Amino acid sequence: MTAFRSVLFVCLGNICRSPSAEAVMRKKAASAQLDLRIDSAGTGGWHVGAPPDSRSVQVGVEKEYDFSGISCRKVAESDFEDFDLIIAMDERNLNDLQAICPTELQHKVHLLMSFTESEYAEVPDPYYGGKKGFELVLEMIEAGCDGLISHIQSA
Ligand code: 4NP
Repeated sequence: MTAFRSVLFVCLGNICRSPSAEAVMRKKAASAQLDLRIDSAGTGGWHVGAPPDSRSVQVGVEKEYDFSGISCRKVAESDFEDFDLIIAMDERNLNDLQAICPTELQHKVHLLMSFTESEYAEVPDPYYGGKKGFELVLEMIEAGCDGLISHIQSA
């Protein structure tokens, strides 16, 4: 039985990368028959209450990921207690999380791509780019979630 029951994905805006990771992880966890609480949040609060970016939804729905019910929220102090794994998309998110995470809970905070063998260490921000960037980001998130599932299963 796994020691990990909940995962929070974190990016900057919580409208592109982390909602996509939430949608991808929902599907992959269901396929793996893992009973996980899955959520996402942003370190910035500009888009609170907004749905995911339409470009993220478009490339995600093309691969049959379901974004229903996802809306933007900001990371809360209670998240560090409430979630077993807190997964950052890039180094900036990681540093911002580490700066506000209580010392005894720092072990929960990781970079998504650290669960892969990928040459990429971070999932880059696709916000100011085109559709190709969103597709690449989604592929990286899929690889990251596969690695994360294996990590959870082996815990
Ligand atoms: P995300 O992308 O962190 O993947 O959600 C961003 C979305 C919006 C902004 C920054 C990043 N923004 O500055 O509004």
